Amino acid sequence: MYRILFVCLTSLCLIFPVSLAFAETGGTPVCPQDRKTPQAPPEFLNLKNPLQKNKETLAAGKQLYEQSAQPLQCKVCHGVKGNGLGEPGFESNPPARNFTCSKTIKNLPDGQLFWVIKNGSPGTVMMGYSDLKDEDIWKLILYIQEFAK
Ligand code: HEC
Repeated sequence: MYRILFVCLTSLCLIFPVSLAFAETGGTPVCPQDRKTPQAPPEFLNLKNPLQKNKETLAAGKQLYEQSAQPLQCKVCHGVKGNGLGEPGFESNPPARNFTCSKTIKNLPDGQLFWVIKNGSPGTVMMGYSDLKDEDIWKLILYIQEFAK
């Protein structure tokens, strides 16, 4: 990404004839994403979220996503906006899932998301959150599914 540098001297603004090679923090969200994540085993795949989506469960999901999930908050890699770009400087191959991309995310069953959050995705930086209570994982799922709406 290039940005034109504007330089203002007193009231006179000059457009500087150079473009700075300026790394746009995070780049552009990719959609659809190339997805090679293994499929959850059937006993997970068929699970349905037992929680209701409402103000409380969504707020709890957001809190976990942005603040309390350990060892690392989801936003660090998936981004506060859920677009998979993460925080400035974060990069991984494969990249973090873009939850705003309904083409990639809308057909993934609840149980698939649950399994990946609990166990991680082998060979990627997506770690398993085996210490989270099941209920907290379901709250996270309600929250991340909202990004695609
Ligand atoms: C260290 C970076 C990192 C963190 C932290 C992280 N993720 Fe991920 N996540 C990834 C990457 C990379 C992938 C893509 C994995 C793949 O391609 O198989 C991914 C994929 C996923 C998927 C996609 C599953 C699928 O089947 O496509 C879900 C759901 C997910 N993460 C949820 C979460 C949640 C919820 C949290 C916080 C509790 C979290 N992630 C924290 C990096 C991260």
